[in-house]
Amino acid sequence: FTTDSYPEIQRNPRFAQITKDHVSYFQLLLGKGSAVIDGVTTELATDDMEPYNGDWMRKYRGHCKLVLKPGSTEEVSKVLKYCNDNMLAVVPQGGNTGLVGGSVPVFDEIVINTSRMNKIQSFDEVSGILVVDAGVVLEVADQFLAEKGYIFPLDLGAKGSCHIGGNVATNAGGLRLLRYGSLHGSVLGIEAVLPDGTIVDDLSKLRKNNTGYDLKQLFIGGEGTIGMITAVSIICPQRSSAVNVAFLAVESYEKMQRTFREAKTQLGEILSAFELMDLGSQHLVNNAQGSKPPLETESPFYCLIETSGSNSDHDNEKLEKFLEDVMSREIVSDGVVAQDQTQIKSLWSQREGISEATAHWGGVYKYDVSIPLKDLYRLVDDTREKIEAAGLKGDTDEFPVLDVVGYGHMGDSNLHLNVAVRRYDKRVEEVLEPFVYEWIAKVQGSISAEHGLGLAKKNYIGYSRSETMIGLMKQIKNLYDPNGIMNPYKYM
Ligand code: FAD
Ligand code: MLT
Ligand code: ZN
Repeated sequence: FTTDSYPEIQRNPRFAQITKDHVSYFQLLLGKGSAVIDGVTTELATDDMEPYNGDWMRKYRGHCKLVLKPGSTEEVSKVLKYCNDNMLAVVPQGGNTGLVGGSVPVFDEIVINTSRMNKIQSFDEVSGILVVDAGVVLEVADQFLAEKGYIFPLDLGAKGSCHIGGNVATNAGGLRLLRYGSLHGSVLGIEAVLPDGTIVDDLSKLRKNNTGYDLKQLFIGGEGTIGMITAVSIICPQRSSAVNVAFLAVESYEKMQRTFREAKTQLGEILSAFELMDLGSQHLVNNAQGSKPPLETESPFYCLIETSGSNSDHDNEKLEKFLEDVMSREIVSDGVVAQDQTQIKSLWSQREGISEATAHWGGVYKYDVSIPLKDLYRLVDDTREKIEAAGLKGDTDEFPVLDVVGYGHMGDSNLHLNVAVRRYDKRVEEVLEPFVYEWIAKVQGSISAEHGLGLAKKNYIGYSRSETMIGLMKQIKNLYDPNGIMNPYKYM
């Protein structure tokens, strides 16, 4: 693990150190759901603690000695109340796929992992309302729904590992937000536990509910800083029977914007994803996977367009007409349409595989930002220029930077700027920060579009939020978590 980019933080001395008495309490309460290293219980061996302490990017690393896996909301309530009474700091954790260092401890905070809370509680086949425990894996829920003709309104590359509680806690956006909207709209109810053990019983199954403040919204994107989500109720759309995917080459970012405009105009209600990829990101994917690019001729930009509808003939006709039109007008230079499920998967892997590929060579500096569409890709060009001017990018091992690439959810004005490195290096970080954040502030963008703040963005929230807004957020934090035990050192 590299800790080069770890901010300088002091452990808060108000937090207690874990003692044998604490461990005995948790063991009695949870039995198999507790694990300790350097101590009494050894449900998990020392090595097995690594997955709970280290993040997906191998960038952040905590030193937690105790992982707790409660099996019910009541157990979470007892665990949190005990921690709060004894000033023990905690980190809620789901699948630990978060990309901002929020899901792992900074020091010795106790990890409370949701993997044992993994039941699908109920599903209403008429309304499409699903109620699940927080620890249900996203892909498991989606497969369950597929059998019923429904789809989970969120999809992302980490679906095989991330938990729905974690998705809601990060307000994950993903690949189909364009079609199904944000979790702020589709989540109908939340059950959560506050640090003092209070169970917030707002697991509503109602689409409309204007009786008072909508408090559940605070937990959506709250990143475990005010409470622990234990269950979620969510409205799921009908699964589309006709899904088509096209992969297109586009010569310039200007033409990419025209492609997006045409896709919205001509595909209308069946457009379900519009994803941008630059050539560098595609080189990384094909090199890491050892695969061939879908199109023979190289182009500076590509996009993946997905349509989802209920009438296959109608959708095919629409997509073909659209392609014919944008190619004849030379907005798009080349393209391919998937002919079957295998090809659909393979085209999607050109996009979904980028995260894995950027991290493949050693490490990656990730910026997940919202930028007005007209300026979106300029950030990648400007960043590449800065990195090159600093002499940090090159083909040989002496240069830390492999490439500066851009991709993302163009349909949502959400760019992923990634600097793929051979190793984490302070000099790279110094060129990138605060440069990227200042750039974003100038165009009134957001420094965190969908991944959250965690530890990575904590010091930069002021670039996207005013003092007044941050002040109000701090008041909410103090109200819900007066002892500050929930996911400390992060968020703001
Ligand atoms: P974790 O990583 O375990 O936790 C994330 C945060 O939520 C932490 O702050 C944690 O403390 C908190 N938390 C977790 N569970 C709870 C709970 N029950 N109650 C309260 N707080 C909790 N994100 C996107 O938005 N869009 C994408 O397209 C996308 N694609 C990804 C692709 C890959 C390959 C990877 C690795 C990540 C991707 N992500 C994406 C990041 C995204 O945040 C996570 O994948 C996912 O939402 C986190 O779920 P998790 O269960 O892994 O949460
Ligand atoms: C994505 O869209 O692929 C995810 O947000 C993950 C990433 O940015 O790498
Ligand atoms: Zn994303």
